[in-house]
Amino acid sequence: MVPTPLTVRAPAKVNLHLGVGDVRPDGFHELVTVFQALSLHDDVTLTPADALTLHVTGEGVRDVPTDPTNLAARAVVALAERYGRDPNMRIDIAKGIPVAGGMAGGSADAAAALLGAATLWGLDIGRGELDEVAATLGSDVPFSLHGHTALGTGRGERLIPALARGEFHWTLALAREGLSTPAVYHELDRLREAGDPPRAGSPDELLAAVASGDPHRLAPLLANDLQAAALSLQPGLRRTLRAGLEAGALAGIVSGSGPTCAFLCASAEDAVDVGTELAGAGVCRTVRVASGPVPGATVVP
Ligand code: C5P
Repeated sequence: MVPTPLTVRAPAKVNLHLGVGDVRPDGFHELVTVFQALSLHDDVTLTPADALTLHVTGEGVRDVPTDPTNLAARAVVALAERYGRDPNMRIDIAKGIPVAGGMAGGSADAAAALLGAATLWGLDIGRGELDEVAATLGSDVPFSLHGHTALGTGRGERLIPALARGEFHWTLALAREGLSTPAVYHELDRLREAGDPPRAGSPDELLAAVASGDPHRLAPLLANDLQAAALSLQPGLRRTLRAGLEAGALAGIVSGSGPTCAFLCASAEDAVDVGTELAGAGVCRTVRVASGPVPGATVVP
């Protein structure tokens, strides 16, 4: 019998608010963050096979590991070990999320692989158990499973769903070079040792703005403590952020640990216009438009 493949689609994320606290004894930073899932996706297809193999196509493939360190492969192995299954399968990842871009592309692949393997194996497990395995794989993996808009605490893995009305429109400026997440956190620690860069504060007002559905109200409240560190490592991003505002975006922010810059726009039409101007200004590798919130990892029928 020919094995039946199963495809799971998982979204990118942007952090509307990313408050980074102090470094913990385990090396992670205590976070208060508001995630939003965006309509930019990776598709992960799992096919039962004789060995665990990985194949990647699409955006930025040369920087994606195809060995067992790939987060999607680790997700399948972690679930197989926990539930006594055979991890052998072919994993095909079609990348639409920028690699090393601060948009949780690797986490999306892990979340998709977890949901896909659990579905293929017919595991009778709830979201709570899947979340537990997800959190062992990476701080953003539980959010990639859940999607929509959520408040994250701990290292980002503890989630509370947040109310969001309507649809927010985004333009994303993808950078030529990626940034390593640990390097950006280290740079923030260094900047904090040298001085006292401002901190994001409470996300309460921002959560109210998201619930109101008004992008004009949300725009001035976007905040990211990692932005100063990302700009310190890639100073050219200042130009990208400026160009987006000049093109008519309501606000621009580095997405997570960067270097993708995310611009909040007043409408879908504005997002396209901002993207066109950014592409013409030569301040980024390429642009995408996206909207949010969207659901987390979902089996494609
Ligand atoms: O959890 P994840 O694998 O995504 O984290 C990647 C790296 O980002 C960690 O090894 C750590 O250096 C940094 N990080 C952090 N604090 C967090 C999340 C990530 O310092 N809350």
